[in-house]
Amino acid sequence: MSQFWKPGTEKPRLLDDEEGGVLFFTTSSSGGGYANLERQRQRLPVFKYRTAILYSVETRATTIVVGETGSGKTTQIPQYLKEAGWADGGRLIACTQPRRLAVQSVAARVAEEMGVRLGEEVGYTIRFEDATTQGVTMIKFLTDGVLLREMMDDPLLTKYSVIMVDEAHERSISTDILLGLLKKIQRRRPELRLVISSATIQAKSMADFFQTSKRRRRQEEEELGPIMEPAILSVEGRGFNVQIHYVEEPVADYLRAAVSTVLSIHDKEPMGDILVFLTGQDDIDAAVQLLTEETQNRRKNSSGLMVLPLYSGLPRADQELVFTPTPRGKRKVVISTNIAETSITLEGVVYVVDSGFSKQRFYNPISDIENLVVAPISKASARQRTGRAGRVRPGKCYRLYTEEYFVKEMSAEGIPEIQRSNLVSCVIQLKALGIDNILGFDWPASPSSEAMVRALEVLYSLGVLDDDAKLTSPTGFQVAEFPLDPMISKMILSSGELGCSEEIITIAAVLSVQSIWVSGWGSQKELDEAKLNFAAAEGDHVSFLNVYKAFLQSGKSSQWCHKNFVNYQAMKKVIEIREQLRRTARRLGIDLKSCERDTVVVRKAITYGFFANACHSEASSHDGKYKTIRGSQEVYIHPSSVLFRVNPKWVVYHSLVSTEKQYMRNVISIDPSWLTEAAPHFYQKQRPNPMLH
Ligand code: CDP
Ligand code: MG
Repeated sequence: MSQFWKPGTEKPRLLDDEEGGVLFFTTSSSGGGYANLERQRQRLPVFKYRTAILYSVETRATTIVVGETGSGKTTQIPQYLKEAGWADGGRLIACTQPRRLAVQSVAARVAEEMGVRLGEEVGYTIRFEDATTQGVTMIKFLTDGVLLREMMDDPLLTKYSVIMVDEAHERSISTDILLGLLKKIQRRRPELRLVISSATIQAKSMADFFQTSKRRRRQEEEELGPIMEPAILSVEGRGFNVQIHYVEEPVADYLRAAVSTVLSIHDKEPMGDILVFLTGQDDIDAAVQLLTEETQNRRKNSSGLMVLPLYSGLPRADQELVFTPTPRGKRKVVISTNIAETSITLEGVVYVVDSGFSKQRFYNPISDIENLVVAPISKASARQRTGRAGRVRPGKCYRLYTEEYFVKEMSAEGIPEIQRSNLVSCVIQLKALGIDNILGFDWPASPSSEAMVRALEVLYSLGVLDDDAKLTSPTGFQVAEFPLDPMISKMILSSGELGCSEEIITIAAVLSVQSIWVSGWGSQKELDEAKLNFAAAEGDHVSFLNVYKAFLQSGKSSQWCHKNFVNYQAMKKVIEIREQLRRTARRLGIDLKSCERDTVVVRKAITYGFFANACHSEASSHDGKYKTIRGSQEVYIHPSSVLFRVNPKWVVYHSLVSTEKQYMRNVISIDPSWLTEAAPHFYQKQRPNPMLH
């Protein structure tokens, strides 16, 4: 390899060298067509454990299955359960995933293996999209968040016979809440079976969590119910070794380092696909563009590269490209977020390039700021990433960090998301399920009490909780009804009173999709110019309304979208989500009214939901610097905002992202008097503020 790499080829570095324990990476044959699927299924490592898994599910309340990614846990176990009769009599088998994209791709795969149409015997549900058929669907894949919402209508989840909580090692906030609630449900519904599956060996702590006291256990055994003590099954795979290469010196720019590593693998290494781990849509699109340019410039040797992005929110057609087998003579390069770490499996990967970073949510209860930060991954993640190279034959993993860094500085495990998140959504969900003592809730990992207090405060100011921290009626219950962030739900409720619900629901729908702009083709300059056509002086949310109106005027034309750098798929989704939200609003008795061109009421409604995200800039400041009103944190308007360089004095933002600075995304200008109107309690407790007196 280029100057990056230690001459590691002298002595191959195997995984077991490095970690002092043997890791197996599984293999499976790829391709081969439909007729082959059954044989492929039987070759998966999990197949040997079929009987053991079914026996355990039969006799025990909880079964924990640990196995390397690709061993067949997600696609096979639900099928085994179905074959064993767990879906008979109209019951359902659920399999939850932390990520939407994984839900869809796995459901499609299982439908294919079973030879049925997706949405019938095998279906899936994600937020705003239900592909199941009542009375027909037997295996249902869904996000853990959707299953939580189903508990609002059916607290004991009575339609399900078995619930498989998949990817439990990810410790997403919804997975943790779900585990706590499922443990409660099990006491009321001993016939419900849980399967918890995980790619890494944290099984012991999971088992401890589901352990019940000895006395209870004796009682249960006397009553001949299922054994409450969880079984742990470890699914071993056959594996190929993966050689690990480190950089000699820390790299300054992981994106460029990743691109040049891909090019040098392509120059020097035998055929085999490359999987690159970057952090999010921004850097992935940038890398795709750089690589595409490179291959066009160099032409000769690089023409065989097929460069593809992979992140959630990617249009369906692009997703499918990633999963289709690589054409002969070509080399696929998939540039992915950590979604390809364990949630989904790509066949044919032989080389992995690991940037050492991922985008993670971080919340600071003191400053009351939550943002997405590009942060170092843990050793556990690094190992998972490495393992992705050893599926079809011995592979290589290029870590874009030094060995010393890996050994001495990387943390062993990641922090559960619940301990690094704003808890507003989590608290309202538990309240809506009748869990009042949230701090006393049986958490797999406890959230901090500071974060909890902050969340309670915000919910109180939103009018969602009363003095006793109970949901208010009707506001609290209405806010909980929407499958949205409580701040967005509150914005919709307020818009009913302000007479602008049609507009606000459009805005809520736009905020629910990844981005309404296309990226990845054309230059940034062209995109910026296209955006200017819709820019509104009031801010991004009003600009969204302009795009939406123009899209309708074009007759929802895809050509119009193409010409204006608008993402057609995203706009279609906006229309769909909008209709669903209007239905919910109507059911809750919210007036559906348009304010025509009155942007004051629109901005007021936004402020009624997002007052906690208010910021102001000093009169003297021209550098776009703002301070949050609550915590006096320094934040800036994101360059993608229409208010970038406009710098109105008072703004509220929708979310923060952090690179070298804290950037506000989706920003709208407001009148400060709206803040005290929206949330008197929230702003009274602040330090004296000239404006608020
Ligand atoms: O859940 P786990 O990581 O243990 O494995 P899985 O997702 O059930 O994948 C088992 C096998 O199914 C993999 O080896 C893939 O080859 C195959 N698979 C696929 O070809 N296409 C998918 N969309 C999902 C899985
Ligand atoms: Mg899986």
